[in-house]
Amino acid sequence: MAKSHDDNEQSHLGRREFMAAAAGMAATAFAAHEAGAAGHASTPAEFAPEDKVAKPVGAGSTILITGANRGLGFEFSRQYAELDTRIIATCRNPDKATALQKLAADNSGIVIERLDVTDLQNIDELAEKYADEPIDVLLNNAGIGGGAENQIFGKLNYPVFHQVMAVNVVGPIKMCEAFRKNVEASNLKKMITVSSSQGSITEVAMPMLYWYRSSKAAVNMQMVNLALQMRRRKVIVGLVAPGATATDFIPEPFRSRIPSIRQPEVAAADMMRNIDRFTLENSGTYFNYDGTVLPW
Ligand SMILES: NC(=O)c1ccc[n+]([C@@H]2O[C@H](COP(=O)([O-])OP(=O)(O)OC[C@H]3O[C@@H](n4cnc5c(N)ncnc54)[C@H](OP(=O)(O)O)[C@@H]3O)[C@@H](O)[C@H]2O)c1
Repeated sequence: MAKSHDDNEQSHLGRREFMAAAAGMAATAFAAHEAGAAGHASTPAEFAPEDKVAKPVGAGSTILITGANRGLGFEFSRQYAELDTRIIATCRNPDKATALQKLAADNSGIVIERLDVTDLQNIDELAEKYADEPIDVLLNNAGIGGGAENQIFGKLNYPVFHQVMAVNVVGPIKMCEAFRKNVEASNLKKMITVSSSQGSITEVAMPMLYWYRSSKAAVNMQMVNLALQMRRRKVIVGLVAPGATATDFIPEPFRSRIPSIRQPEVAAADMMRNIDRFTLENSGTYFNYDGTVLPW
């Protein structure tokens, strides 16, 4: 693929100029923040009419899904396959992904690829393999909770923090970096991350899940940053939350203690509706499953 404008800009800058530019950028960002202009999607006046039109995923679209072998990732794969979408369904262990293999056998539009999102080289190699292919939606779905027992204040398990951050925060932004040209070259141009209402600092009420909640708040910030970064390139960045869903993610006995727990097929369908709603104008939004916007 052709070198991007940013790549060229960077390679034309020597180290000193690059540092000076970075310092200038920091000063500008700080000034904008002080003036109350940073941190949010800019005013609608900046957008052309076509930037406000939601384009749905459908036949002819290509979607790359992480953690596609089970839970919500599998449900996304199943339901996007029903729309005749081409799916690059990634998972850590394709050999053991029997349900996904069966789905792929029944749907010629699904290709399964091995991908561990904590393995940055693995991400780069996969991106290299797909270098010339447009990807309409990059769907960062893979995530871990870290185990409630590892996140009790007074008994915090510190190594688990790093695992949770590697999967839930570093993985998604690295995926966006590695596949940015594929998304930019596509029709829909969407980078979507499955977040959680547990990442909403405003919403949480009981003290728990220190690592998981921090990771989802962090990935929210990554994606808001990225939405601003990619706007000039017309790439749309979005966050979707499924609500508490009956997957392996919520094991018993916790699962049966949540009366409002939702089924994966419903949660995935709700998120797919919200993924379709993203436009350049609302890029960076944090949509809850019911279509409302979650507070940060
Ligand atoms: N279920 C809920 O109530 C709920 C609520 C809010 C948000 N979410 C979010 O929804 C997303 C999907 O969760 P889920 O409910 O479907 O959970 P799940 O059933 O536990 O599935 C998690 C998926 O992530 C994959 N994964 C874990 N570590 C990975 C890694 N290093 N590289 C690649 N894939 C990896 C798993 O693959 P393996 O099979 O190889 O482990 C599996 O496919 C997560 O981001 C989660 O935070 C879930």
